[in-house]
Amino acid sequence: MESFLIKGGVPLHGELTVSGSKNAALPIMAAALLADEPCVIRRVPHLSDTRFMAQILESLGAEVKFQNGALTVRAKKISGYADYELVRKMRGSICIAGPLLGRLKQARISLPGGCVIGARPINLHLKGFASLGAKIKIEGGYVDASAKKLTGATMFLGGRAGSTVLGTANVMMAATLADGVTVIESAACEPEIVDLAKFLTAMGAKISGAGSPTVTITGVGKLHGAEHEVIPDRIETATFAIAAAATNGEVTLKGARPEHLRAALDKLNETGVLVRQRGADLIVRRGKKLRAVDVTTLPYSGFPTDVQAQMTALLALAPGISIITERIFESRFMHVSELARLGADIEIEGPSAIVKGGRPLSGAPVMASDLRASAALVIAGLAAKGTTQVNRIYHLDRGYEKMDLKLRKLGARIQRVEENS
Ligand code: EPU
Repeated sequence: MESFLIKGGVPLHGELTVSGSKNAALPIMAAALLADEPCVIRRVPHLSDTRFMAQILESLGAEVKFQNGALTVRAKKISGYADYELVRKMRGSICIAGPLLGRLKQARISLPGGCVIGARPINLHLKGFASLGAKIKIEGGYVDASAKKLTGATMFLGGRAGSTVLGTANVMMAATLADGVTVIESAACEPEIVDLAKFLTAMGAKISGAGSPTVTITGVGKLHGAEHEVIPDRIETATFAIAAAATNGEVTLKGARPEHLRAALDKLNETGVLVRQRGADLIVRRGKKLRAVDVTTLPYSGFPTDVQAQMTALLALAPGISIITERIFESRFMHVSELARLGADIEIEGPSAIVKGGRPLSGAPVMASDLRASAALVIAGLAAKGTTQVNRIYHLDRGYEKMDLKLRKLGARIQRVEENS
């Protein structure tokens, strides 16, 4: 297994181009299953999660090719069965359910199970499919969804934590090929949903309201091939912005689409980080002093849960008490005990982390537990004195394209090594 070896204390300086969004690319790749013609998707990030999604599409019978920076998916003939061995490895693979149900009117998919950040149920996805007329059966760890035909319906997809991103994506995709009009109330408003709607529209789907809590889909008989360019990754942008602030550096993030991360930028501003927008670029620099702030994660356009761990690392450096409340995933605080190994003073109290910030951090070996927790450990390691070894970075490689190379370009002393070297 590989690790990152980080010699901290070097301010990051320079510019980098933001990669395509992982969480936009995954459902868009799945959406290519809805047509039998080739779809070309540009700016798909090279990550283990996107490679894995490509494998799932191939296992269903699609041809997938990565060429000249574009991914071509041709789903001429596909099957509707996704095995446990495939689905369990990536929870996001559940977003193949909607396209399979839409196109084949049946899908048999292994239930993805929970993961380290929380229970991650799919009851809302299934509620949406059932509203379209699908019969749902759960047996032997698999969910079977089938229908003679899908019929448009009005449904409420809000759950205990608000809207669901992949649930909205799944129902939207299935509804593109249903008879009649589907209205999703309490739909997720994330930019990744807007991007998916844009791709589906290019394929011939009729969708309005994406990006608002009410999305309307008018079913069509067939979808065709299309081309699309994936939006930049707003979570990667926020991660590098926080790394720049944590190391007291200055970084320009090119092609960042700041409008997709207003809540995070606003919070950074409150923390004393100077954020300037120049066209589509963002310039991030730490101000004179970091300030403690309170942060609560919420569905879009609120502060993203996917940036919570990285923000916790930054607030560990801000003198004073910050309270970080996680409202989306109940156990997304795995980074806290590892940050403590670097000297951070953080306590968990119910859904909140109480950060007594401002203590100097010093390097130590730490263990990555999930994607964003790993990013938080890298940020803390970059800011800490001495050497930090972040183990199990395969979590990072799921969602950050060449993070070590990008950081090195900004001056960081970071190396990828074998865990026991
Ligand atoms: N929920 C339900 N029932 C459902 C679905 C979700 O109760 O049927 C709950 C969840 O337990 C959670 C909340 O609703 O409390 C929101 O979950 P959501 O369904 O929105 O999450 P997701 O669609 O499975 C995507 C991203 C996550 C990101 C969340 C929230 C992808 C591939 N994944 O997951 O990304 O944290 O939205 O924004 O798009 C990451 O990139 O590190 C990551 C975990």
